Amino acid sequence: MGKIILTGDRPTGRLHVGHYVGSLKRRVELQDSGEFDEIYIMIADAQALTDNADNPEKVRQNIIEVALDYLACGLDPAKSVLFIQSQIPELCEMTFYYMDLVTVSRLQRNPTVKSEIQMRNFEASIPVGFFTYPISQAADITAFKATTVPVGEDQAPMIEQTREIVHKFNSVYGDTLVEPDILLPDNKACLRLPGIDGKAKMSKSLGNCIYLSDTEAEVKKKIMSMFTDPNHLRVEDPGQVEGNPVFIYLDAFCRDGHFAEYLPDYKNLDELKAHYMRGGLGDVKVKKFLNNVLQDELRPIRERRKEIAQDIPAVYQILEEGSRNAKAKAAETLAEMKRAMKINYFEDKELIAFHKDIIRIHKTHKEFLTGSLKYLYAEYNVIGYGRFNKEAQSVILVNNNDYEVTKEVSVWYLGIPKECVLNCLMLTTSEGYSTEPKQYPVISG
Ligand code: TRP
Repeated sequence: MGKIILTGDRPTGRLHVGHYVGSLKRRVELQDSGEFDEIYIMIADAQALTDNADNPEKVRQNIIEVALDYLACGLDPAKSVLFIQSQIPELCEMTFYYMDLVTVSRLQRNPTVKSEIQMRNFEASIPVGFFTYPISQAADITAFKATTVPVGEDQAPMIEQTREIVHKFNSVYGDTLVEPDILLPDNKACLRLPGIDGKAKMSKSLGNCIYLSDTEAEVKKKIMSMFTDPNHLRVEDPGQVEGNPVFIYLDAFCRDGHFAEYLPDYKNLDELKAHYMRGGLGDVKVKKFLNNVLQDELRPIRERRKEIAQDIPAVYQILEEGSRNAKAKAAETLAEMKRAMKINYFEDKELIAFHKDIIRIHKTHKEFLTGSLKYLYAEYNVIGYGRFNKEAQSVILVNNNDYEVTKEVSVWYLGIPKECVLNCLMLTTSEGYSTEPKQYPVISG
């Protein structure tokens, strides 16, 4: 089994540094590691619409913003399939069947959905689509047989729920789907980067994000206004580094090399933290250092973004081609699922043949007929021959060519109920018999 990545983002705004350290940077590393056979990166517009139904323009505008952020960070369409969720209708079909495998109470227990409902003041007026988005997310992941889902910590309940759905599906319908593993950032500070206001989560509506596309001046302004330890009023006061956003950002972004370049009085972050805790180190000095560190990281992304944005049609083309490839893969998985669920009626030759084939049997050529019938058994899925068996739904009747094969004759000959005679096959050779069955048209009525 191959190693396959699927992950994605809702296009409700430009991506920020929280997305970057939480998942985006890791994706690029994984992509370039060459360890994965397939990589799918999805812009989850359909999921974004679950709580933005009345604001489709916002979602539409942000698709290109997210795509630019992806490409600027180093996601490479030659190595990763970049696509738009709504262009893969197979995902909706899968979601519909997964809904049968999940209870309302299980959805209500999903902690991420719970807190999102609270944040959005939905209470009793939760859109059904929003409430059930973890199920559609399971379709996103399983459609590509993803083994690995690199995401932020807040997505852990979704992966857990996906694993449950896979387990249930496979145990009911047989082994078909793959249980995915979550891949969280190794660095604890990257798990959940706080907003610049110290709030637990960066969010567009709180206005506390540093975007990948922010200008140098915007980034600097945001860093210099960042929340720190509220009790660290004077430079000489001892300060706290735990829970202090400036230090959490440094944990996430800075390397020892940055000290040599921008703050040579210290060898590493531990020394800087120790000084801050002791007292005598001002916020402004730390923030200026963080600004240097962050600008180093964001500058190449910003520049690449600007360059790529020169040719927007090319970006849409990447997404269109990616969506085409993603659709092909999802269709393959969906076909397997439907086969497992036995809702592939028109592909199911056994099902069709079973109701169709009726052949007459001649009383006097038992031995010959026994041999032929073995062949017919294999070919036409017939239950038995001879007198009509009440349990059988269809019967082979073999004719030696003496009789016209008609429904009336069949009914008369073997006492088969009329409604069971749908079609006739006959055996004939130059001597009167053949081992090749010949198909007669359906006798209706
Ligand atoms: N829920 C994710 C977010 O809010 C986006 C998403 C949708 C996703 N489907 C996914 C992430 C599948 C990983 C895998 O950012």
